[in-house]
Amino acid sequence: MLDNAKQLVMASARSDVPPFMVMDVMAAAARLEEQGARVIHMEVGQPAAPAPTSAIVAARAALEGRIAYTESLGIPSLRARIARHYAETYRIEVDPARIIVTTGSSAAFILAFLALFEAGDRVAMAVPGYPPSRHIASALGCEVVPIETTAATRWALTGDALLAAHRKSPLKGVLVASPANPTGTMMTAQAFAELMRAAEDAGIRFISDEIYHGLDYAFPAETAVRLSPNATIINSFSKYFCMTGWRVGWMVAPEPLVRAIDRLQQNLAISVPTLSQIAAQAAFDGRAEMEAVKHGYEENRRILTEGLPTAGLDTFFPVDGAFYLYADVSRFSNDSFDFAKRMLEQAFVAATPGVDFDPFHGRNFLRFCYAGSAAEMREAVERIGGWLRRG
Ligand SMILES: Cc1ncc(COP(=O)(O)O)c(C=O)c1O
Repeated sequence: MLDNAKQLVMASARSDVPPFMVMDVMAAAARLEEQGARVIHMEVGQPAAPAPTSAIVAARAALEGRIAYTESLGIPSLRARIARHYAETYRIEVDPARIIVTTGSSAAFILAFLALFEAGDRVAMAVPGYPPSRHIASALGCEVVPIETTAATRWALTGDALLAAHRKSPLKGVLVASPANPTGTMMTAQAFAELMRAAEDAGIRFISDEIYHGLDYAFPAETAVRLSPNATIINSFSKYFCMTGWRVGWMVAPEPLVRAIDRLQQNLAISVPTLSQIAAQAAFDGRAEMEAVKHGYEENRRILTEGLPTAGLDTFFPVDGAFYLYADVSRFSNDSFDFAKRMLEQAFVAATPGVDFDPFHGRNFLRFCYAGSAAEMREAVERIGGWLRRG
């Protein structure tokens, strides 16, 4: 009887995905703040700035009217505006019919994996990488094949590494992100094109997570939209447009997949929150405001890349884009979780241990998010330097 009752409430095996450690860091920081500490938050990957004014004004105005369901693929004028974004930003013509509005890029992962893969399909992902993409794929029954990247290839997943994994056991897909989370490192246009060519020639479906596009400092980020009509592109208003909580993103899908994704979205969500879609369309009018925010990140990046080496953290991945710096802390500890905990408790700087992002070497790394203010960055460098010197 007891066993029967237990069976009724037992979580499924596929829901057994790992937690996100960054949440533990956030909770520990919140406890310290309750006791009066002033913590510098560099653990969560989100902009400190609000959405563009144009987005907020449009959302306020829309609240006067009826907020109803929209078409499952998204409000047509928003889809057309996103298509125009590709013309303006990348000089690429995209048919608005290929654009699908999603509930953040998180929901786009679910739609893409369901539309592209069967349960049991093997999908390659670069390590270090954003954990939820791995966990969503595995919860949907895919087998995630992590492929380690190294300094020798500037931390890029290469065609050779992909094909080596494919030879061991065939892959059905590959997901890449450039700029990447947690590293902030980007693939050069050449490395990106070579990987895509290798994937497509081998019949491996290509998904490009372009959520940090717009936040590229070292060189312009390449989009998979330019390289192939067969790739699935995922993007979001969360990062460049500072709209994390609005939960709105988009996909550029291969034309033959659009109807399948439409049917999935009809059933899974009906449509994406209407207010957020209206705000997202207006966000494109706030580009000047967002460029100013981006310049702030560039200044933060300068402060950290110059300041952290003098503070003692002198080894990090190429700080190309997004708003992350991924630092090697192995000189001080081989347990980045413990290192992050002590840095929080003693220097009051919160950062995320690499174990979330890299099951192999994450214990040697710490991710700093530099989406805060320049004053916070300067103070963080000082606090970390003082703390490391005190030992
Ligand atoms: C690489 C990457 N992809 C996707 C996401 C999901 O973002 P959202 O669902 O807010 O669009 C994140 C969030 O941090 C991310 O870092």
